[in-house]
Amino acid sequence: METVARPDTLRDRLRAWQSDGQRIALVPTMGNLHAGHLALIRKGRTLADRSVVSVFANPTQFVSGEDFERYPRTLEADARLLLDMGVDLLFAPEIGDLYPHGLAGHVRVEVPALDHILCGASRPGHFTGVATVVTKLLNLMAPDVTVFGQKDYQQLVLIRRLVADLGFPVSIESVDTVREADGLALSSRNRYLSTEERAVAPGLYRVLRQAAEVLRSGNRDYAAVEAGAGSDLEALGFRPDYFAVRRASDLMVPRQTDIDLIVLTAAWLGHTRLIDNAAVQSSR
Ligand code: PAJ
Repeated sequence: METVARPDTLRDRLRAWQSDGQRIALVPTMGNLHAGHLALIRKGRTLADRSVVSVFANPTQFVSGEDFERYPRTLEADARLLLDMGVDLLFAPEIGDLYPHGLAGHVRVEVPALDHILCGASRPGHFTGVATVVTKLLNLMAPDVTVFGQKDYQQLVLIRRLVADLGFPVSIESVDTVREADGLALSSRNRYLSTEERAVAPGLYRVLRQAAEVLRSGNRDYAAVEAGAGSDLEALGFRPDYFAVRRASDLMVPRQTDIDLIVLTAAWLGHTRLIDNAAVQSSR
C-alpha cells in the first residue's frame, strides 16, 4: 500500500488504474480508524478493483470552539490497519494540499436545504465544510463508488444531494452503523467519555429504538414522541441538542402519511456530543 500526500501524485496513480479499466472505491475518513470505518472499506472493496482511503482531519468542518486541535491523529496505526485490510492507496494530505490558498476565503460548497437543520443548526458551517472537502476529494479522484456510514445520517443524505445536484458520476453506497455490544455507536469521540459517561452512553440508542418502536406501532404524534424521548434522555443525564422524527429520504418534517421515517438525535454527555439515529419501518 502506498501513502500519498500530494494531489498530483494521487491523480497520476489513479489515472493509471482508471486507464487500465479498473474501478475505484473511495472511503473518505478523518482517521483514527475503528471497526465502523473498516466496515465501509470492506464494502468498498467488494464493489471495485482498487480501494482508496483518505485520512484528513478537515479543518473547515470544525466549528470554532470544537475539538479540531485535539481530534485524535493516529496516522501510523491507521496505515497499518489499512495495509492489513488490503487497501491499495492511502491519501493523507496536509491542509495546504487541499486548501492551496489557505483557509480564509476558500471556495465553499453549500447544500442549503440540508446544512442548516438538525446538526447544522448547532454547528453552523459544519456541513459546508463537509460538502466542500467531499467535493474536492471526488474531483481529485473521480472514484466509481464512494462509501459513507449511516451513523452520520444527515451527512449521508447531504452527500447524496450534493452528488445528484452537481452531477458527479459516482455511486454512493452506505453501511449500517457498527456498534459496541451494548449498542453505543462506534465513534472516534467515544474516547472523550469518562467511565461514568461511558456507562450512560448506550442509553442514547435505547431511547432512539424505543421512539422508533412507538412510531412503528402507528403513533403519528411526532411532537409527543420527540418531547417524550427528550425527557427520557434528560432523565438519563444527557443534555439533548435535538431529538427529531424526520422523513428518511430528505430529512424534512414528515406528514402523517409518510412511511419511511427516521429518528435522529444529538445529545451532550458532559463535554462530549454524541449523535445517533434509528430507522423506522412504519406499519402503514
Ligand atoms: P469520520 O468521522 O472519520 O467518518 C468517516 C466515515 O465513517 C463516515 O462515512 C462515517 O459515517 C463512517 N462511520 C463513522 N462511525 C461509524 C460507525 N460506527 N459505523 C459505520 N460507519 C461509521 O465523516 C467524516 O469522517 C467526515 O465528515 C468526512 C466524510 C471524511 C469528510 O471530512
